[in-house]
Amino acid sequence: MSERLIRGPLLHCLGEPDKDEAAVDYQPDALLWVQNGLVHKMGNYESIVKELSPTQLSKVEDCSQYLMVPGFVDCHIHYPQTEMIAAYGTQLLEWLNSYTFPVESGFKDPAKAAAVSKVFIDQLLNNGTTTALVFCTVHPESVDALFTEAQKHNMRLIAGKVMMDRNAPDNVLDTAQTSYHQSKQLIDRWHGVGRLQYAVTPRFAPTSTDEQLAAAGRLLAEHEGVYLHTHLSENVDEIEWVKALFPKAKNYLDVYDQAGLLGKRSVFAHSIHLCDSECERLAETDSAVAHCPTSNMFIGSGLFPMQRLQDHGIKIGMGTDIGGGTSFNMLQTLADCYKMQQLKGNNLSPEQSFYLATLGGAKALDMDDKIGSFAGGKEADFLLLDPNATDLLKFRTSHCEGWRDLLFVLQTLGDDRVIAQTNVMGVAH
Ligand code: GUN
Ligand code: ZN
Repeated sequence: MSERLIRGPLLHCLGEPDKDEAAVDYQPDALLWVQNGLVHKMGNYESIVKELSPTQLSKVEDCSQYLMVPGFVDCHIHYPQTEMIAAYGTQLLEWLNSYTFPVESGFKDPAKAAAVSKVFIDQLLNNGTTTALVFCTVHPESVDALFTEAQKHNMRLIAGKVMMDRNAPDNVLDTAQTSYHQSKQLIDRWHGVGRLQYAVTPRFAPTSTDEQLAAAGRLLAEHEGVYLHTHLSENVDEIEWVKALFPKAKNYLDVYDQAGLLGKRSVFAHSIHLCDSECERLAETDSAVAHCPTSNMFIGSGLFPMQRLQDHGIKIGMGTDIGGGTSFNMLQTLADCYKMQQLKGNNLSPEQSFYLATLGGAKALDMDDKIGSFAGGKEADFLLLDPNATDLLKFRTSHCEGWRDLLFVLQTLGDDRVIAQTNVMGVAH
């Protein structure tokens, strides 16, 4: 049996802070007891220490200078775009043609896909992200490479082959038939293997025919537990294009709805410019939205109406959206999230932000029974955050009063230097 015993301050959410003031659990002196990769017990050190044998007591790791938190959950990211992060000067549709499609065409080569997968998984773990929902490319080789790398780290990863059969260069296109068969093969090969799960991944409505979207719907209907991952209503030119391509659809979301793509394991990235009936339909079907603030500002897509979506009861998680987004780091993503909501007159609380990056993300991915908090029996994916990671942080956090203040300072000033240790199923990366 493998075991870890870690003593130190700990913070996690038991529910949604905006809805329940008691949803945040802060313990200034906690013991996290991990057995075989799962949370065996967590609570006040003094109340648990009596249960430890002398041998176990000698193994307790003193982490009193850190803050223990659950691993971050990234609900939308593209691994092939790692090499084109920070591409200058365009908005979505031109950005796709100028930068994205040329880069993605290279992932038919398994050696290239394997090399980028390694860089990508290292970046996720170095930044404290232990679970991610990931776009690959149209090439099945890109999916095999990513899952193979994630498997080496025992990471909880959901990914899928992009389906796209029109409006892009030939070297990144498939057909309705090949996308169906290749996705099916990949589901059979990877879905449910260890901690890996598959997402049926039509890129977005403009690059799929009705026939291909129907094939995506068939894949979902035929494979219980598989996810749906796509983009929705990100950019105003994109929305106009969808209207022209699908004149019979009631709205953008309806294109996906008609194909049977909505549900509790469906994640729609961005969802910025939605009408009320789209919001209602997302809530009704228990579909989730991935909010990607660094991307929405970097490629000029718009300001996410978080409060409005929350009022509709829509599940929301955070996404970095690399390479439209500009950071792998969830703290930096939360910093931009806060600033964007300020522009909308919404003073997002530090605990609600923290929830979105942990338990809220887990709920958005329908995995809150497994990850997102330190509840007993959950998988022990967790981080040690260092409030003294930089000179400025050391100075600023020495003036913090309480966990809420500390959390907000870490979110606002922190980056990968704050992530002192990332643990996957109790194992340090
Ligand atoms: N919409 C369709 N494809 C993409 C993509 O690769 N990135 C983003 N941000 N939006 C998209
Ligand atoms: Zn994206």
